[in-house]
Amino acid sequence: MKFTIKSEKPETVKSGCVILGVFEHRKLSPAAAQFDRSTKGLLKKLLQKGDMDGKCGQTLMLHYPAGANCERVLLAGCGKAEDFNSRAFNKVIAGVTSAVNQSGASDAVNYLGELDVTDRDSYGKVKSLAEITCSSLYTPDQLKSKKDKNTHPLRRMAINMASDESRSARKALKDGSAIADGVELARTLGDLPGNICTPAYLASQARKLGKTCSYLKVSVLDEAAMKKLGMGSLLSVSRGSREPAKLITLEYKGGKAGEKPVVLVGKGVTFDSGGISLKPGAAMDEMKYDMCGAASVLGTIKACVDMELAVNVVGVIPTTENLPDGLASKPGDIVTSMSGQTIEVLNTDAEGRLILCDALTYSAKFKPDVVIDIATLTGACVIALGSHAAGLLSNDDDLAEELLAAGRKADDRAWQMPLWDDYQPQLKSNFADMANIGGREAGTITAACFLSRFTEDFRWAHLDIAGVAWKGGSEKGATGRPVSLLTQFLLDRC
Ligand code: BES
Ligand code: MN
Ligand code: ZN
Repeated sequence: MKFTIKSEKPETVKSGCVILGVFEHRKLSPAAAQFDRSTKGLLKKLLQKGDMDGKCGQTLMLHYPAGANCERVLLAGCGKAEDFNSRAFNKVIAGVTSAVNQSGASDAVNYLGELDVTDRDSYGKVKSLAEITCSSLYTPDQLKSKKDKNTHPLRRMAINMASDESRSARKALKDGSAIADGVELARTLGDLPGNICTPAYLASQARKLGKTCSYLKVSVLDEAAMKKLGMGSLLSVSRGSREPAKLITLEYKGGKAGEKPVVLVGKGVTFDSGGISLKPGAAMDEMKYDMCGAASVLGTIKACVDMELAVNVVGVIPTTENLPDGLASKPGDIVTSMSGQTIEVLNTDAEGRLILCDALTYSAKFKPDVVIDIATLTGACVIALGSHAAGLLSNDDDLAEELLAAGRKADDRAWQMPLWDDYQPQLKSNFADMANIGGREAGTITAACFLSRFTEDFRWAHLDIAGVAWKGGSEKGATGRPVSLLTQFLLDRC
């Protein structure tokens, strides 16, 4: 999608489609009212006839309006003006984008950026306009031999803004497009199947990203190197797989030389069968999404590169498959982590924490300001929060609040759960320093408790994205979450 900023009148602008807002009930936005006057009350007439009321998400397409220079007008229902917040705004943008894309118009001028959004400034509006427009056009058809071809797709979108706002709008456009591309990368990787998106594939994608920026350094450790570092916990998961595990590191140095980095650790299980503690068969294909934490780290770093963000960020991605095999871990096996702590593997399906703990210990070497891990870690999180919010647990309440705020701002929300010591005894093992599971109760919290034993030396937060990283059912597909949250968090630190 090619975006530009414009400052023209809706009735004179030449375009395949002019997009105008209508509030409930039948209230024209300023641009729509201006358009209406030049077209002899065309819009008001149709609204009065009942063609549209202005409910949030409604759209109405008109063709060749007499008195204007455009081929089409798309009226976008925005709901009640006083309720028009960022969530409503995003919903409207998504609806408008697919309507225009299906209309045959290859270019459009969007006047919705001028509307008052209760919790957004003009930078924020344009940023999400770019972000949401792009992501509404994503289709996971990478591997279809015959694509459902749209012969006249939407290719160019101009965003109309008052001319005194056009400078901040250009910056917003750059940031929004960068985030959209980061989200798209995360979705594309997530949607790829396990036989293509292997640990080696993720490593090659990271290297490819590294080539796009002179201050992004990418390195990949193989199993021998991890063995030397003592990563017995991570390697115990990959023993059952023919695909060798990798530990990918991406060091983005956009900030000052001495500035401590934000370290993002992403779970990269490219397929999770459960291992010897095999999962049930239903919907097991969705366990190709068990690398969405890793994908979100790659997407976020890509966005940092494209925004030329002035921060230091390190991505650490432990990546492996989890499969049953003669060499695979067995329930009861005891492994030694890089930290020296021993772990009794009571369930081989609780593999995410086994690879994350060594990656977290490894993260200390970057002398982090904060460490954030992102993982499709527990089915329990899906039960607790559904698909609306990521679970957030942290050993630092200020860091937690920063992340929650970034999530609200980016409309990519998280919800905090307690990390109280009261839960720690659930991880007791008679034979090792800890067990890798904590029983039926509070599964998301005990998983975080496990990780907390490897993060005592730094400020750390954990995002459990099991419920938000992808959608199931007929809309099956990756969401790219929480790339928006993470990039917002980084933007807010600049
Ligand atoms: N990748 C899964 C978590 C998961 C399950 C995410 C379903 C999304 C949907 C993780 O590796 C896992 O299997 N966790 C177990 C932990 C249990 C054995 C303590 C789970 O949640 O069942
Ligand atoms: Mn598992
Ligand atoms: Zn898993």
